[in-house]
Amino acid sequence: MNIILLGPPGAGKGTQARKLVDEYGMVQLSTGDMLRAAKTSGTEMGERVAAVMARGELVTDEIVIGLIAEQLDGEAGDRGVIFDGFPRTLAQADALEALLSSKGKSLDRVVEMSVDDEALIARVSGRFSCASCGEVYHDTTKPLTKEGVCDNCGSTEFVRRSDDNEESMRVRLMTYYRSTSPLIGYYYAKGKLQSIDGLGEIDEIAKDVKSALGL
Ligand code: AP5
Repeated sequence: MNIILLGPPGAGKGTQARKLVDEYGMVQLSTGDMLRAAKTSGTEMGERVAAVMARGELVTDEIVIGLIAEQLDGEAGDRGVIFDGFPRTLAQADALEALLSSKGKSLDRVVEMSVDDEALIARVSGRFSCASCGEVYHDTTKPLTKEGVCDNCGSTEFVRRSDDNEESMRVRLMTYYRSTSPLIGYYYAKGKLQSIDGLGEIDEIAKDVKSALGL
């Protein structure tokens, strides 16, 4: 099954994608994670990407489509894929369809998660993740069970994203409404869209995601 988790920054796409990976062995392809890895690569592309991401704007379609194409050419293409944070523009959506179809595959469903802006800002402001395994936490809604120790891998190193600040978040939200939200209508018209309320307990949302996917 190939699916997209669609929603504004902080909607819980990454959190829910990880649950599907754990339960169903699907592959999570997060363009945000790939770009953060590119940022630290020391290449010229990495430097350009870092500046764009810090401002909360979108990286070019060409770069992100290239990253996804590379992954689909590899092992990920043979398993069920969760697209997390991709596509974000109509051009990316068209490119994804072409990429999947060139491999005899197609997109099964798109789950749109909606959350109001105030809650989104609260979510990204409290987010931090394990520097070792990437498990995502929140200061109040998903704290560490044992202070200073990752529940998942036991690491004691944590990081906060440089774009998780109010100024960048305002640009990210505006960018979502302007460039990405048209995808809601795009996938509705294709009969692929399932919309769920992204506000609520993480485990309750996980049940809604599964039911939207028919799992
Ligand atoms: P990206 O990394 O994709 O960030 P994003 O879309 O802004 O989404 P987030 O990762 O912020 O949120 P999420 O929905 O995954 O929420 P999470 O589960 O972490 O992109 C970053 C940047 O890269 C972009 O701004 C852009 O510059 C660039 N980029 C990436 N893809 C691109 C593309 N395709 N094209 C062009 N540019 C691209 O949850 C957030 C927090 O809330 C966590 O702390 C979590 O614990 C908590 N939480 C989760 N669920 C709940 C819940 N139900 N209740 C309470 N708290 C919750």
